[in-house]
Amino acid sequence: MSREELYIQYHGLFFSKEAHSVNSLKFAQEFSFENDVIAVTYPKSGTVWMAPWLENNRLAMVVDKLKSPRVLVTHFPYHLMPRALSCICLSQAIYVMRNPKDIIVSFYYFHQMTGFWKIREHLTTYLFFCSLQKKMNKTLWFNVLLLVVFGKWTDHVKSWKHNNLGDRIMFITYEEMKEDLPAALRRISSFLGKNLSDETIHTIAEHCSFNAMKDNPMSNFSLVPKTYMDSDKSTFFRKGVVGDWKNHFTPEQLSRFTSTINKEMEGESFSLPWSLD
Ligand code: A3P
Repeated sequence: MSREELYIQYHGLFFSKEAHSVNSLKFAQEFSFENDVIAVTYPKSGTVWMAPWLENNRLAMVVDKLKSPRVLVTHFPYHLMPRALSCICLSQAIYVMRNPKDIIVSFYYFHQMTGFWKIREHLTTYLFFCSLQKKMNKTLWFNVLLLVVFGKWTDHVKSWKHNNLGDRIMFITYEEMKEDLPAALRRISSFLGKNLSDETIHTIAEHCSFNAMKDNPMSNFSLVPKTYMDSDKSTFFRKGVVGDWKNHFTPEQLSRFTSTINKEMEGESFSLPWSLD
């Protein structure tokens, strides 16, 4: 399959044809937010931990059934978001950031299990991991940051850091949710103006634990056909840990990765919440 058969190019970014069409992307861009909550992630950052997907083909079919306040997720960079999101008083956003080294590892295994990304020679994570066995090649490395779906991780983070949502956006990390899920849930609920009891927080944390979601057919993708996602190759709920990159990166790759990201972040007014070393 050629790249054109697998991907749509839209506003300069690549999107998987399996999950999106030009119509679904336009639908998402014109979406009318009204006191809703949008969770924002770069792919493989724990999206499934959050809610229904704004720019997915299927949203138009279910959107009328969602009750207010609707809770949606998006991988869009900020500049592709509907204007309605930035209107005063409308909607809130929660940006979940994950260490990009773990994102790459997670993406790689995800590519192994998906039926729709069978040809992987131009998929950056695949190239990156192929290169683990071979000598690292500069071009491959460069591609890792440039050609993944939804664009560069650094561009995504920067776009959302430079938003005009004021105090209607909160930032949280995957690592923070892993470290203490009840505390993360308390932060989220207080941001949303909800004062949840300890018992409710505890119940949500139990339902949202890695093991509970991994065993739940409503979240673990076991109901989708194997031709689409083959759990014999890798499971969607793969490891759910922080720092799996340590089992994959060589010191040389780590140093190259860190310097590439640092270069991308040069001159930024914010710093990343973890050290990349
Ligand atoms: P790993 O491949 O590192 O295990 P997304 O939903 O954005 O595609 O992200 C998937 C990643 O988030 C996977 O990472 C998955 O295991 C992890 N994840 C999803 N739900 C999780 C949970 N409840 N606890 C911990 N990790 C979770």
